[in-house]
Amino acid sequence: METKVLKLESPTDQEVIEKGAMIIKNGGLVAFPTETVYGLGANGLDQEAVCKIYEAKGRPSDNPMILHISSREMLEKLVRDIPKAAEDCMDMFWPGPLTMIFFKKDIIPEKVCAGLDTVAIRMPSDSFARNLIERSGVPIAAPSANTSGRPSPTKASHVLEDMAGKIDLIVDGGPTEVGIESTVLDMTVNPPMLLRPGGVTLEDLKALLGEVDVDPALLGGKPKEVLHPKSPGQKYKHYAPKAECLLFAGNLKNVAKEVDKRIKENPNKKIAVLATEETLDLYREKPYLMINMGSREHLQEIAHNIFNALRECDEAEVDLIYVEGFSFQGMGQGIMNRLLKACGGKVVLGL
Ligand code: TXA
Ligand code: MG
Repeated sequence: METKVLKLESPTDQEVIEKGAMIIKNGGLVAFPTETVYGLGANGLDQEAVCKIYEAKGRPSDNPMILHISSREMLEKLVRDIPKAAEDCMDMFWPGPLTMIFFKKDIIPEKVCAGLDTVAIRMPSDSFARNLIERSGVPIAAPSANTSGRPSPTKASHVLEDMAGKIDLIVDGGPTEVGIESTVLDMTVNPPMLLRPGGVTLEDLKALLGEVDVDPALLGGKPKEVLHPKSPGQKYKHYAPKAECLLFAGNLKNVAKEVDKRIKENPNKKIAVLATEETLDLYREKPYLMINMGSREHLQEIAHNIFNALRECDEAEVDLIYVEGFSFQGMGQGIMNRLLKACGGKVVLGL
């Protein structure tokens, strides 16, 4: 299959909206920008089309998808119950990077929800994404448009790397704004439970809702096993670059010192260091690749850059990636969640 790439002139580019909507209506696959990451979209009410997404991504079929909507009327057709807390979240955060889990209606094909009785729904703030959904006239099922297990795509070129020849169309709307995926909040339980930290922070949610639980599995996303220098790591990987990745947490001067020491000890390895504006000057050794993820004063900037940084490491074919850690406050929680997964949980703590 030939994968077309169309550049978006503006979010209201009629030609691209029309072409994308035609493909969605006809059961095809369209990768499109959202404010978080690029999504790989299909008609969310068409089981066969949704199956093509699993195939193109190589995604395990027990991992359910998010339905993207463009209006509240669409939501009412898809879910059985809209709790007050969800109404409040919609008023505050929609359209935007918040996905909510509801009890589903039967109209939604089983494959979208991987057999669950619940469905994940999000109204993106990206105008093109909403225009595409509206013109398609159906909710668009869309996971991130990466090969399963790879870093999520924040540029059309990332999507092309993973999806060339497998999907009908890639809409190139430039780099995405937020850079990490939406926050996932389960509204079928009381209090609501945070399942994935993302563009909307836990602090934001608590300020609005009062009580918010956090999925215990997420807390397991913090390092369970403290690895002292040189210990081998766990197996679990996600958002994973091809090279081995290791996260360093603690005093930033000590982090730089430890990384310097390891660079010196491994003269034959191609090492990438993912540092920050504030720490660049702390490193004495010169690694094969030094990437500045942005300023620690602006965690939004770091979130915007992390997946691209991980993909740059792949492109440079490095052997090892050393990445600086962040606090779990605000956007830091989403950033650390992605970095820890990229590292398969391998962390050097207490520096
Ligand atoms: O920002 C985003 O959310 C992006 C853009 C494209 O919208 N999409 C995205 O989709 O990240 P995906 O498929 O990569 O992640 C969806 C997450 C997965 O962790 C999935 O397990 C969870 O949402 N999820 C989906 N449906 C669920 C359900 N019914 N119950 C619990 N978790 C669910
Ligand atoms: Mg994903």
